[in-house]
Amino acid sequence: MSLSRSRRRFLGKTLALSGSGWLALSGLAGCGGGNDGSNAPTPVDRTVDLPIPPLVEGRMRADGVRTFTLRMQPGETELVAGLRTATLGYEGAVLGPTLRMRRGERVRIQVINAIGEPATTHWHGMHVPAAMDGNPHQTFGDGESWTAEFDVLNEASTLWYHPHTEGKTGEQVYRGLAGLIRVEDEHADALGLPSDYGVDDIPLVIQDRRLRADGGLAYLETAHDLMGMKGDRFLVNGRERPRVYLPAQRVRLRVLNGSNARIYYLGFEDDRPFQVVASDGGLLPEPVTVNRLRMAPAERFEIVVDLSRDLGRGLWLRSYTGEIVNSLYMARGLADTFDRGTVDLLRLEVDRNAIHTPVVPQRLNTIVALEPNAPDRLFTLEVTNGEFTINRKPMDMRRIDERVRLGAVEVWEIRNNQGMLHPFHLHDVQFQVLSRDGAAPPPVERGWKDTIAVLPFETVRIVARFADFADPDVPYMYHCHILEHEDRAMMGQFVVT
Ligand code: C2O
Ligand code: CU
Ligand code: CU
Repeated sequence: MSLSRSRRRFLGKTLALSGSGWLALSGLAGCGGGNDGSNAPTPVDRTVDLPIPPLVEGRMRADGVRTFTLRMQPGETELVAGLRTATLGYEGAVLGPTLRMRRGERVRIQVINAIGEPATTHWHGMHVPAAMDGNPHQTFGDGESWTAEFDVLNEASTLWYHPHTEGKTGEQVYRGLAGLIRVEDEHADALGLPSDYGVDDIPLVIQDRRLRADGGLAYLETAHDLMGMKGDRFLVNGRERPRVYLPAQRVRLRVLNGSNARIYYLGFEDDRPFQVVASDGGLLPEPVTVNRLRMAPAERFEIVVDLSRDLGRGLWLRSYTGEIVNSLYMARGLADTFDRGTVDLLRLEVDRNAIHTPVVPQRLNTIVALEPNAPDRLFTLEVTNGEFTINRKPMDMRRIDERVRLGAVEVWEIRNNQGMLHPFHLHDVQFQVLSRDGAAPPPVERGWKDTIAVLPFETVRIVARFADFADPDVPYMYHCHILEHEDRAMMGQFVVT
């Protein structure tokens, strides 16, 4: 950001000429490229390839249980060209493999902690017993392991896993711990959507980071960061502004906003329309055509973009947050330059003919509206005495805030009493969105969700069925998914009995 456009041009020229100074300078050049809110094209010559996390299937045991191992470990990663950064990863230096599992299977995941401090791993979006949820009540220490075992009840969807350690979630995720889960089922298989992993079905974990000059991750440096840690470097799958090579056909992007606090408003540089086919918990009833898509932290959307006429061309996937910034932040000073501008995220290069001929059917899923059978619950998100609270209480591990009857179908009304957006996340179940300030939700929110962006001073009503897992002792959580708000106790606990 500190570099002016002319300085950037100057750097671009120097880089083209010099050769060996290139690595050292490219980190600097990255500060300015296309991220200053202007629509100036970013030079792409130094772009590196998009890392694709390995798709792992685990091992099928004789007892019919699909078994995975995830070791949380330290490593070193070139997040940004020319800088080495100490990071944490699952089974690698940063992020983690994409776990492939099928609805109806039983899976066992052994998580090993080798990061030098207590941690947990939570299966975000997964409908599992509270004791298998990987929430703060299942914390385990360095050198220890914890094993979750559950039946895969979710439908085909893109879920994710990340630490959920009390007071440390933000930092542990920021250092690199997060990965995707790809749940498959027969219904989704039969639709003909792009589904060749890494070829025309591309996982994208979008995150922002702030690095020190020595490459170290900067976390919570200013009081402002406590409102939500945002960075000035934009990473996709752990790499700054990478490039992905794609065939000239329809391509599916499975996008996770894996950022601690940053909100994105995705679009392509030529404003082309794309189809949103899935939200957090599964396929939408029908594809929704848009040219922009808002994504709050922890939300997932799967989109299909048609590249069939783009052979030999490239285009940027960008965040145009500046177009909606006033709806995200009413409080002064919370939006930074990137929130007010445009950010380049990923360069798509169409370099080969079609490999597959995927389709997007007009009907994708059947979602039956839930009928509430219990009283509504009200949740108010606010800052009280400098603390982030829900219903005026900071989270207390020893306090159960809500008791939900097994089988209840409940409306939860979430009120945001603040001038900034809070993404509200509910463990255990996927929910349906009923309304935003009394109005029907937009079409992209008419499928299953586990995280919902609640805008400044907005009231959102959701409905969920609390089926399957009763446990009077082990709670689930609901919380804001801006991780610094969660860590500062904008969270509550509920049991299902
Ligand atoms: Cu993604 Cu309670 O977390
Ligand atoms: Cu969760
Ligand atoms: Cu929040």
